[in-house]
Amino acid sequence: MRLTMVGTGYVGLVTGVCFSNTGNDVLCLDVDPRKIEKLKKGVCPIYEPGLTELMEHNIEAGRLKFTLDKAEAYRDAQMIFICVGTPTGENGQTDLKYVEQAADDIGHVMKSLGPGQERKIVVVKSTVPVGTTMMVKQRIAAIVGPSIAFGVADNPEFLKEGAAIDDFNKPDRVVVGVEDEATGKAFKELYDPFVRNGHPIYLMDIPSAEMVKYASNNFLATKISFINEMANLCEAYGADINRVREGMCSDKRIGHAFLYPGLGYGGSCFPKDTLACIMMGDKSGIEAKLSKSVHEVNQRQRDRFFDKITGHFKPQGGLAGKTLAFWGLAFKPRTDDIREAPALTLMRKAIGYGALVRGYDPVANDNVRAELSGPAVSIEEDMYECVKGTDALVVSTDWDEFKSPDFARLGKLMKHKVIFDGRNLYRPSTMHEAGFWHYSVGRATVKQG
Ligand SMILES: NC(=O)c1ccc[n+]([C@@H]2O[C@H](COP(=O)([O-])OP(=O)(O)OC[C@H]3O[C@@H](n4cnc5c(N)ncnc54)[C@H](O)[C@@H]3O)[C@@H](O)[C@H]2O)c1
Repeated sequence: MRLTMVGTGYVGLVTGVCFSNTGNDVLCLDVDPRKIEKLKKGVCPIYEPGLTELMEHNIEAGRLKFTLDKAEAYRDAQMIFICVGTPTGENGQTDLKYVEQAADDIGHVMKSLGPGQERKIVVVKSTVPVGTTMMVKQRIAAIVGPSIAFGVADNPEFLKEGAAIDDFNKPDRVVVGVEDEATGKAFKELYDPFVRNGHPIYLMDIPSAEMVKYASNNFLATKISFINEMANLCEAYGADINRVREGMCSDKRIGHAFLYPGLGYGGSCFPKDTLACIMMGDKSGIEAKLSKSVHEVNQRQRDRFFDKITGHFKPQGGLAGKTLAFWGLAFKPRTDDIREAPALTLMRKAIGYGALVRGYDPVANDNVRAELSGPAVSIEEDMYECVKGTDALVVSTDWDEFKSPDFARLGKLMKHKVIFDGRNLYRPSTMHEAGFWHYSVGRATVKQG
């Protein structure tokens, strides 16, 4: 099939690359000339394990191309996937301006092709509030008029950054909202190579498909806020959240996934999708009370952790003039995506209190440099260089390379042996023996004499 991806971000690029890998002709459009310039040279603009290799392979095979030209992108496509960002707008509403722009662009190109053109299917892959796909249909119809037929669909994406290729190639399920049989058939053909594992393609109505994505993300966000709330209670009552997790999660009805306490969720999806549910609730008069609490607990989690940092330094005159090292700057491991990353929130707060911050991330350093600069910030290329002369280390993501560091070396490099372990990576007993102060989440603090 001839496919066009609108947007070459984390979703559009992965989707385009994976569809080209099963033999489709894929053209990826973006409005960002720097991204397209890189992609045309075979350089991947984002970090995603395995993406570069797969991209190079399909570029070489002639199945994967990139363009800035909207007319070229939309002219020959049989299916057009809108994969643009849907960020939270100023008042908490989902900002749909990129989706609207894409719909208008598609409409104008279709109009220029005139009646008799091959029927196109316009697919919303971005995460959007219920009703958005029909809004896209109406916008395009208003431009092209009644003589040009086209189909629409909603096909939410469930990939996780850091494991996106695997998630896309072997999805637990594919969800597609359609209005007609022909569109459903086209999706079944397109996704057939991806569901050889027997996992289902669910064809459903468009509003339900749009809602599946929000329901899924809100549920996962709820699990994270739930375990964080339990961790906070553990701290208050002298219980250990790790023991509680073991006892609780071995229940088959509960399971282990997304029940790790920490700094709360970040990234470009959970925060905005929780807010979108809250807004959908407020708009409809069905208050999304649970989503509101989930969001509030998440915001509070970072503040609580920061309070541990300020609390530690209070007897020493506060954070002003202290230097903090941060390991893990993206919102989670194996991605360079720093949107809503807890580390950045904590770094900004620390700077606000007069501290100096040093950061290290295996793949996100350049993105952080573009976002956070000034005399109080230095970003290092080595995790041990990062801790040199610092008063404390804050571990903010659970990259494998942070899991078993050389504590003796750390102790020698740091000015003070203090670790704020935002991901519960280290055992309190190990920390005690190594002579570190150790603050974690939902467990007792290790203090040194
Ligand atoms: N990132 C994830 O892990 C993930 C997972 C599932 C779903 N989603 C959803 O997918 C959507 C895209 O997310 P993302 O993380 O890939 O976003 P992103 O910001 O990484 O990429 C969006 C891209 O769209 C481009 N763009 C904007 N307007 C355009 C236009 N009119 N024509 C062509 N290109 C245009 C931007 O330049 C950008 O490169 C969002 O709705 C998001 O919620 C994201």
